[in-house]
Amino acid sequence: MVLMKERLIALFGAAPDEYLSGSEISRQLHVSRTAIWKHIQALKEDGYTFEASPRLGYKLLSVPDTLQPSDIASLLRTKTLGRTVHCYEEVDSTQNIAHRLVQAGAEEGTLIVAERQTTGRGRLGRHWHSPKGKGIYMSLVVKPDIPLHMTPHLTLLAAVALCRAIRRVVPEVSPGIKWPNDLLIDGKKISGILLESSAENENLQYIITGVGISCNLQKEDYPEELLPKATSLYMESGKRVDRAALIAEFLLQLEELFDLYMSQGFGPIRTLWEASAVTLGQSVRSSDPNGEYEGTAVGLNDWGGLVLKLADGTLKTIYSANARESGHM
Ligand code: BTN
Repeated sequence: MVLMKERLIALFGAAPDEYLSGSEISRQLHVSRTAIWKHIQALKEDGYTFEASPRLGYKLLSVPDTLQPSDIASLLRTKTLGRTVHCYEEVDSTQNIAHRLVQAGAEEGTLIVAERQTTGRGRLGRHWHSPKGKGIYMSLVVKPDIPLHMTPHLTLLAAVALCRAIRRVVPEVSPGIKWPNDLLIDGKKISGILLESSAENENLQYIITGVGISCNLQKEDYPEELLPKATSLYMESGKRVDRAALIAEFLLQLEELFDLYMSQGFGPIRTLWEASAVTLGQSVRSSDPNGEYEGTAVGLNDWGGLVLKLADGTLKTIYSANARESGHM
């Protein structure tokens, strides 16, 4: 069914503003006219609109601005990631759905996407603003064969993948990474990543990679207090973002970078992260049980910690849970 829907959409997409007769569709897709009618009805339920003329056939009038598994599937170029997609209208948090699905046996690469979240969550217990249909709110199930203490690498890897995907799909913008994995444009946040893992001792069972991207939000979609520190791809580029295309590109970048990580280790990922980082050279404050300190960020260490050069010249490495950052969504 999904495959036939995709083929129908592709057929109409190749003939914009034209009528396609039932016999023409039936000839091209090798299905009966009754089957075509059924598939058109299914597409209508997904939000597509058609004009039907008994003499001329069907003309596609509009496509829905909702995310459908078939939209993502038709653009996917991955081996595993996103091969199973669940789309929801409204959820509390896609992270919660993903945890539930993985416990019920969801396989590696399962993707959960929602049009709206009522209690989307960010790092450090923050709320993630998730207005309906305007952003990408997704959670991906991954079961990497790495020990638990390596997961900070994946946090940084995910930021690099997202940065590359955004640059490809929205070439008008050039986001930078704020340690560990926020994406900023001119100092304002456009996306955030939240990794939640389940492990027994050092044995990692799974990771839920949650990604929020502010795609098509306009000024009026933000509460007043977020405006000084948040922006969207639409506000920065002046163009509406094809959310399905951005999801598909992110999954591809993530899969490719993960393969690179598994074959060559953290080195290449560290180089890519550092090349896109806006944090390096900046002053960062942090604290640990021994007190508070401030230093200039100079790079990453082998474990994905951020190395600071303190005023007295000594180096101090901080890990993401300890960093005190200012301004978040
Ligand atoms: C952060 O910047 O603090 C991370 C934000 C992560 C938000 C995403 S939206 C999809 C997924 N579901 C959630 O509840 N959170 C993540």
